[in-house]
Amino acid sequence: MIEPVRIVEVGPRDGLQNISQPISSTEKKKYIDMLTEAGCPEIEVTSFVSPKWVPQLADAKEVSASIQRNNDTTYTALIPNRKGLEAAIENGYYSVAIFTAASETFSKNNTNSSIEENFKRFEEMIPIWEEKNLRVRAYISTCWVCPYEGDIGAEAVIKVIQDLIDLGVHEISLGDTIGKATPDDVEYLLEIILDNWPREIFALHMHDTYNMAAENLTIGLGMGIRILDSSAGGVGGCPFAPGASGNISTESAIRICKEQGFETGIDSDKLRLAGAYIQSIIQE
Ligand code: HMG
Ligand code: MG
Repeated sequence: MIEPVRIVEVGPRDGLQNISQPISSTEKKKYIDMLTEAGCPEIEVTSFVSPKWVPQLADAKEVSASIQRNNDTTYTALIPNRKGLEAAIENGYYSVAIFTAASETFSKNNTNSSIEENFKRFEEMIPIWEEKNLRVRAYISTCWVCPYEGDIGAEAVIKVIQDLIDLGVHEISLGDTIGKATPDDVEYLLEIILDNWPREIFALHMHDTYNMAAENLTIGLGMGIRILDSSAGGVGGCPFAPGASGNISTESAIRICKEQGFETGIDSDKLRLAGAYIQSIIQE
């Protein structure tokens, strides 16, 4: 039997947030609708963060209202705090993604707050997401290397994972924010993580700055990871992580899954069209 792998399409959020050229809400809607049409099981549509911090996604409300939603796709919004959570709920999301980091300096640069303060914001949100029965995904940035602090020890990542599990999140995405993790680094950390927690709750979120993301995903698949984040067209990066380039492309993630004997359920021809469309819009 061919084993399934779930690809989480993060292009509309992670891919676009770092682009300074204005991209219209209509163009974003078209990109997202093409991703839905390609059969993506999950699409991270946008983020409800401070528009001063991420101006590109200031139209989160308009984009969320305009997209075609399909019952077979989970639509997720990235949120940093209660204000973001309330906006996500108002705009029709049943799935949200929170984010923190394994590096204090990255956390400060990305959210103007420490990791502990991130968790205080998360704790405030628990009664709301429990009452609304939301699905909560959580990102841990800089699991391997931080743009400010360099190498990050496994203990820091382990602590954040345990705290997120105690918080009751449903899925944890391990971020290689600036694409500097080597295959050996990925294997080392995953061995520790998978000795302690079930593999089903973990995703790999690899930026492809140094062309190591494909090999790193292959290592993850070999070790039992079955959720991969990627971005159609391979666009993007994080504005608060100097040197971060785009996520591994969904085109590559699908190819890797196929080569390793896994099924993603995504129509690769239609997905390629979505990637080509957004690449044709972005001039940077
Ligand atoms: P702050 O300035 O410390 O927050 O920012 P504040 O609470 O003092 O609020 C400042 C202003 O922002 C206020 O407005 C708030 O109302 C507003 P003002 O009174 O000045 O007009 N505000 C909001 N507006 C809309 N939606 C909200 C919201 N919250 C406050 N939710 C804050 C703290 C966390 C808000 C800010 O730092 C922020 O928005 N950061 C977002 C950073 C971000 O989006 N980074 C990229 C995503 S993470 C990433 O890319 C990594 C990932 O891909 C994994 C990986 O690759 O590693 C996930
Ligand atoms: Mg990212």
